[in-house]
Amino acid sequence: MPLSFKHLTSTKQLTRADTDAILVKAAEIEGVTAKGGSSDLLAGKILATLFYEASTRTRLSFEAAMLRLGGQVITADGFQFSSLYKGESVEDTMRMVGQYADIIAMRHPEQGSADRAAAVSPVPFINAGDGPGQHPTQALLDLFTIRKERGTIDGLKIAMVGDLRYGRTVHSLSFLLGLYTNLSFTFVAPKELTMPEKVTSFLLEKKLPFTQTDKLEAALSCDVLYMTRIQEERFADHSEYERLKNVYTLTADLVKGTKVTVMHPLPRVGEITTDVDALPNAAYFRQARNGVPVRMALLALLLGF
Ligand code: CP
Repeated sequence: MPLSFKHLTSTKQLTRADTDAILVKAAEIEGVTAKGGSSDLLAGKILATLFYEASTRTRLSFEAAMLRLGGQVITADGFQFSSLYKGESVEDTMRMVGQYADIIAMRHPEQGSADRAAAVSPVPFINAGDGPGQHPTQALLDLFTIRKERGTIDGLKIAMVGDLRYGRTVHSLSFLLGLYTNLSFTFVAPKELTMPEKVTSFLLEKKLPFTQTDKLEAALSCDVLYMTRIQEERFADHSEYERLKNVYTLTADLVKGTKVTVMHPLPRVGEITTDVDALPNAAYFRQARNGVPVRMALLALLLGF
């Protein structure tokens, strides 16, 4: 079934039918790639990756996804090496890149830049993160991971921990989980970094209950603990970042003996100690790997395959 959108800028656009189609296709593709198989589904197609803000996972998994589907990738590597540096607008960049590529993925530090890009892009456009705004493909791979790890999405207790104010992944994932039923949320953050009203009012509208606390222990009895990094790059006052950067540290001693699935969009910078990695609860590297089949599914569906 075709997706309900041409461009993906926000998880608020996604319907349950869209997410079902993406998750089903990702599982199918994973079945092929896990056995070492490849595909030529997108042979002759070109993906342009435009990353004007740092990335390892999103960029490389988009590029791996396109290559594994038999397509090709062109890239603009960093703000200072693109014509944005000379003052070209995001809109003109899209108009141009859409002449060279069949589909575009862009990360940009400004919230709203993805909507501006999508408004003029002549080819399908995917938001790969727009500042503190949205990161919809991360949310899709998070959803895929939750279902694989827990066998279901409906009815789970989900904890989100850390920088809930600036963390775009927790915003996107909360909106996406609004498509499911009987979920409950525990938001763990210091008072300076609590979940924004745009998310809490959305959950109230959806009648999905949530509690807010600054105690990490509250997350350990949930089904999923989604840890986040304190987003240094978003703080206007660096001394505030320094004060808050070590507010939560998840250690093996805390996780051992619990049934919680530990997720993190990565990179981590100390908020999960490396002794957690060996525990079966630690799903974050499996989560990162899931980025490839999920982005393969999205590229294929947006290109009509
Ligand atoms: N999770 C994520 O977006 O990672 P990168 O910043 O490395 O792309």
